[in-house]
Amino acid sequence: MRKDLVSIADLSVEDFWRIMHTAARLKAEQKAGTARPLLAGKVLGMIFQKPSLRTRVSFEVGMRQLGGHAMYLAPDEIQLGRRESVPDAARVLSRFVDGIMIRTFAHREVEVLAEHATVPVVNGLSDFSHPCQALADMLTIYEKRGRLEGLTLAYVGDGNNVAHSLLLAAGLAGMNMAVASPQGYECDPQVVARARASAQANGCVLRFVADPREAVRDADIIYTDVWVSMGQETEQQQRVSVFDPYRVDARLVELASPDVLVMHCLPAHRGEEITDEVLDGPHSIVLDQAENRLHAQKAVLALLMGNGGAG
Ligand code: CP
Ligand code: NVA
Repeated sequence: MRKDLVSIADLSVEDFWRIMHTAARLKAEQKAGTARPLLAGKVLGMIFQKPSLRTRVSFEVGMRQLGGHAMYLAPDEIQLGRRESVPDAARVLSRFVDGIMIRTFAHREVEVLAEHATVPVVNGLSDFSHPCQALADMLTIYEKRGRLEGLTLAYVGDGNNVAHSLLLAAGLAGMNMAVASPQGYECDPQVVARARASAQANGCVLRFVADPREAVRDADIIYTDVWVSMGQETEQQQRVSVFDPYRVDARLVELASPDVLVMHCLPAHRGEEITDEVLDGPHSIVLDQAENRLHAQKAVLALLMGNGGAG
């Protein structure tokens, strides 16, 4: 594995499966009450430039369960890039902590932090990607279906950070993916090219369409995310009108396979990208998905910050 997890593109197929298997094992051990202090005495610094529920709590609880400690660094405290440069913050933090998690706006900040930190850096969401989310999502699908290869995930909505990481993860996992986004809100072409190359190597197909009905037909999983991501609040009105035909409602779900799984990274804007009926309905696995942030990230932390005993 590389030093950092900045993007799913940092992972080989082997790394990806190592994370999945380590996460499954750590989860089973945690449920059985077996302590695994793989990071005893270690400290994770967590830089948050944006709000969070799942990321903050799951990283903090995960570090505790691994015998270590996590430190929350609020936006107003660090003032990353304003009070001091990102490289300086990276070099100084590396003298105190054993790993850094960062949630921020510009993806480049995560890359620069990783380049200048001597300790592992984990991306806890940038405007461009959300790798920890995609790893937790793949773990959840694997638990529910016993495989990833050959399944088809339909992503309906904005070609955003979550969609990018899912595409890269699907390519690694051999999972087909169909993305339905309105014109002007498609996934980044460079991410698509990278994911396609890995899909070709791993025997799966990635499709990009405009019509959500076309994407979900025969899908094993339907996935959606908010139409207005953190930092896009000024575009709210326009986005809500453009994305209106992309709502995941009961009629759309009916077009997919009868045992389709419905996923959402949360937080959800109920009534916008997904209806209450679907989010709270029998196909929804959103809470298992949220829980798996904890287990997937524990695997990442143990593999990057531990002494090799995790994998
Ligand atoms: N899914 C996710 O990253 O949630 P938070 O924004 O609450 O961390
Ligand atoms: N796309 C969303 C994901 C939140 C977890 C955002 O960036 O706000």
